[in-house]
Amino acid sequence: MTTEVYKIIDPIGKDRSLLEMAAEKIRLGRLVVFPTETVYGLGADATNEKAVSSIFDAKGRPSDNPLIIHIAEPADADKYAFTSDLYFALAQRFMPGPLTVVMKSRENVPKRTRGGLDTVAVRCPESLVARELIKLSQVPIAAPSANLSGSPSPTSAKHVIDDMMGRVDVILDGGDADFGLESTIVKIEDDETLTLLRPGKITVEELSEIADVSIADAVTDMLREGEKALSPGMKYRHYAPKAPLILIDSDVDKLISYIKEQGKKKIAIIAYEEDVARISVAIPYAYTYSFGRVGDEILQAHNLFAILRDADVRDFDEIYAPLPKKNGISLALYNRMIRAAAHKIIRM
Ligand code: TXA
Ligand code: MG
Repeated sequence: MTTEVYKIIDPIGKDRSLLEMAAEKIRLGRLVVFPTETVYGLGADATNEKAVSSIFDAKGRPSDNPLIIHIAEPADADKYAFTSDLYFALAQRFMPGPLTVVMKSRENVPKRTRGGLDTVAVRCPESLVARELIKLSQVPIAAPSANLSGSPSPTSAKHVIDDMMGRVDVILDGGDADFGLESTIVKIEDDETLTLLRPGKITVEELSEIADVSIADAVTDMLREGEKALSPGMKYRHYAPKAPLILIDSDVDKLISYIKEQGKKKIAIIAYEEDVARISVAIPYAYTYSFGRVGDEILQAHNLFAILRDADVRDFDEIYAPLPKKNGISLALYNRMIRAAAHKIIRM
């Protein structure tokens, strides 16, 4: 398959015709990668079973892992799901934006799209390119992150091109993703209760202003033997770099002596900006990535997947990184990093 790549800078002005062309491809059942404010999505007509099947093929994704349906207006959720007052309260506060809501599905959403579940995940992205594409397509767009299954979600057009060239019809290059981690996912349990299935930019603290929020165990812990995942995606080892990632819960001095003791030579260290200079002097043979300053979770979220992708091509023996906290946006970093590390945490 030949893949056409188009840069979209002005989706409502001079690049409109490119977007119209991409929307036409969606209507024809083809695959279009598009930018969102979280990560790039691999989109197809959510109501077309065949088109949805080709998403799973292009990614190498297990067929029981359901897709998020992207809509142009929050109220459009009503067409595909049984919404409620709580849904509209969430929509009013957080949409368009990086929040996905799981609700009981209507019959018109193909089983293939929702991985055979009786629920459906709905999201109205904030990215103008994404929303205009959905509007012009006149169908909801099913889209997982546009990476090959098992690698980090793509946050730049280069990441998408590395993974998807020859596997999709169109790639829309909208520059770097703004946030850089996937959307927060909540499931509506009843009129007052949400379960957090995946943490993201919209935090538990913010959601708690609107409803009672319980955090699914798999957000922070390993799934126990025989335990059923609330969200099928939780059971797959995601975001895994080729070299083992080890998370260090300690201060920088102990980190330095621990790493030196290990005696490994081809290593990478993901370090807070404040610590980069000291680590580079103390362990000159290490490749040091700046994660962003302590407490700057927005920049850390923006950097994480690009760092993990870069580490993959440099072929390290081991990668070390600090263990994030579990509050605010840090919970999203914690969740992605413990999974990339397969829960390998060293506490000192
Ligand atoms: O930010 C995002 O959400 C990006 C952009 C492209 O919108 N999309 C994304 O999609 O991250 P994906 O497929 O990579 O992750 C969606 C997650 C999966 O873990 C899936 O198992 C879960 O959402 N999911 C989808 N439908 C669900 C449902 N009905 N119930 C529970 N979990 C669901
Ligand atoms: Mg994904």
